[in-house]
Amino acid sequence: SRTLSIGIVGLGTVGTGVIRLIEENAMLIARRSGQTISIGAITARDRNKDRGVDLRGYRWVDDMLEMADDPELDIIVELIGGSDGPALTLAKKALTNGKSLVTANKAMIAHHGLELAELAETNGAALHYEAAVAGGIPAIKGVREGTAANRIERIYGILNGTSNYILSTMETSGRDFDDVLAEAQALGYAEADPSFDIDGVDAAHKLSILASLAFASRLDFDAVATEGIRAIQAADIAQADALGYRIRLLGLAERHDGDKASELFQRVHPYLVPKSHPLANVDGSTNAVVAEGNFSGRLLFQGAGAGDGPTASAVVADIIAIARGELSPAFAMPVKALEPCAPAESGHR
Ligand code: NDP
Ligand code: HSE
Repeated sequence: SRTLSIGIVGLGTVGTGVIRLIEENAMLIARRSGQTISIGAITARDRNKDRGVDLRGYRWVDDMLEMADDPELDIIVELIGGSDGPALTLAKKALTNGKSLVTANKAMIAHHGLELAELAETNGAALHYEAAVAGGIPAIKGVREGTAANRIERIYGILNGTSNYILSTMETSGRDFDDVLAEAQALGYAEADPSFDIDGVDAAHKLSILASLAFASRLDFDAVATEGIRAIQAADIAQADALGYRIRLLGLAERHDGDKASELFQRVHPYLVPKSHPLANVDGSTNAVVAEGNFSGRLLFQGAGAGDGPTASAVVADIIAIARGELSPAFAMPVKALEPCAPAESGHR
């Protein structure tokens, strides 16, 4: 049978989750993808770190960029993070060489997704990033493929597991912000720099990606007006509760078609959500994405938004899609066909 060889760059929460999943579900994955998926090379910063998985059987490569030139590797799986720097250099090199790229890196996709997608289109490679938005929920495929026939009126949801974990845990336990944040970090939910989570930046990365998919518009991260949950105190949560609301950090994108041009509203901030609304009952690190299409009606995608298992599930689904030969555009359409949308207000970065 045929073998598809992958190089995994980054062996933290997500990278080790991917290795565990591929080992445990190898037979099932081979049947569904029509090929054996083999881990042809791995790397991270520290070769000697104990990662809780046995890596002795895998080939370690010191320089990650060598993987992008390695004819033995078909797919590069980037799981180190960071919008620029080594992740971007690796991604560009892999795609330029015609190797497909799977990444969970929403920061890189939000800032450079269109450039990377064009590189993929030019070089006949695939760019997949399902894990970048809403962890284990197939939100990218759900919106890009599942709602493709609709005019989307609005897309919104809970897009950051760490913030939702903090808000919902403070609500039920009365524990303080820093204590719950430390727990979210220990559980592997938070970004390397957790200010991305609590200041709304991570949710803004994800919202800009979803908005581009939903409205077939050019991705525009700088236009997202962003406010996080740093200032929220136990007293705010208690006040909201007394009034019949829960506080949730939501991202919302909405297109308003004026006479001259479309305007795209993109914003991330804490909302007061009535307790009767489905999003008010999304707790812990769970994420939820709501897409409202003119024929589909309101669709709700809900599930684990962070953590090793759910994120690995999305990463390996992308690997299987590539093994099956799925070469759909990374965004709603080929990059040149995406329409610019005038930002309705400027973001504050
Ligand atoms: P971790 O911090 O747990 O792991 C990052 C890994 O990358 C580590 O193994 C680290 O090496 C390696 N690394 C970092 N910089 C370099 C470098 N310059 N050269 C080589 N290796 C490097 O992060 P996560 O696994 O949590 O996240 C990875 C990506 O997935 C990020 O883009 C993140 O945003 C995204 N993501 C994470 C989710 C989660 O729930 N954690 C969910 C969805 C997406 P070493 O271990 O040796 O230090
Ligand atoms: N730090 C992110 C979160 C990881 O908490 O949602 C999943 O993208």
